Amino acid sequence: MIRGSTAVYGILGDPVEHSLSPVFQNLAFKHLGINAVYVAFHVGKDRLRDAISGLKALRVRGVNITIPHKEEVLNFADLLSLEVREIGAANTLKFSDAVEAYNTDWLGFKRSLEDITDPKGKKALLLGAGGSSRAVAYALRRLEVETFVWNRTRSKAERLAERFGLKVINRPEEVVGEVDIVINTTSVGLKDGDGEIFDYSLISARQVVLDIIYRDTPLIKRAKTVGAKAVNGFPMLLYQGVESFKIWTGCEPPVNLLKEALIPFGYPTEC
Ligand code: ATR
Repeated sequence: MIRGSTAVYGILGDPVEHSLSPVFQNLAFKHLGINAVYVAFHVGKDRLRDAISGLKALRVRGVNITIPHKEEVLNFADLLSLEVREIGAANTLKFSDAVEAYNTDWLGFKRSLEDITDPKGKKALLLGAGGSSRAVAYALRRLEVETFVWNRTRSKAERLAERFGLKVINRPEEVVGEVDIVINTTSVGLKDGDGEIFDYSLISARQVVLDIIYRDTPLIKRAKTVGAKAVNGFPMLLYQGVESFKIWTGCEPPVNLLKEALIPFGYPTEC
């Protein structure tokens, strides 16, 4: 039996009910014998300030922050990490004497990319310039990947490009033949029946393809069909959580065990 008071961690978002973070974070605590629980807190935009005050008062140790609060939460933190300031968003809070804000999304993406290729010196096509694109663009810049960005609304691609040193293109077809890495950060592929962003038959076996959506989108399916290495957003989700866990506890979670636990939920397998 574990004695002493149970430390509380969680995730704040809206919606948050279907989050898989509680599944693997609780397993990591259990495996390491840490007396803690990780719960989902459904918090609307108008209650974020109150929620964070409440978490502090209750001595909650740390939380993940997800849609739609990743930018707004910066207003309620006392300390912002360098990456949070660069990306303009936080997905992890640690409550000490102060509220510390971190961003582990970029690390999650970086590790997910490095699992399938050595990105240094490579060229990438980034599709999308929304909120989630920023952590990806930051990681690509840190990895010194030459990146071309396309977005349906060109002005947003221009803003992202200016901030992270990317090149804006008018159509994905302009560069898809010359890049090594293709990354989708748009929401296209989230819904059944979503079409193609560009002609996916232009993807070849020598390329690696990543999607931040947690399921095999038409882009990922097509890439696999032609023999390209392709992963959906699941590894990124797990790895960002792993990095949050390390920030909160200072311990290394059992990554392979967590991957196995996520397979029934759609975590990619080798076969
Ligand atoms: P998130 O926080 O998940 O990134 P977001 O900030 O709303 O969400 O960004 C959604 C991204 O998907 C944007 O790049 C958006 O393009 P616009 O900036 O032009 O809106 C992109 N997107 C959404 N629907 C799209 C579609 N049908 N075709 C192409 N891009 C689309």
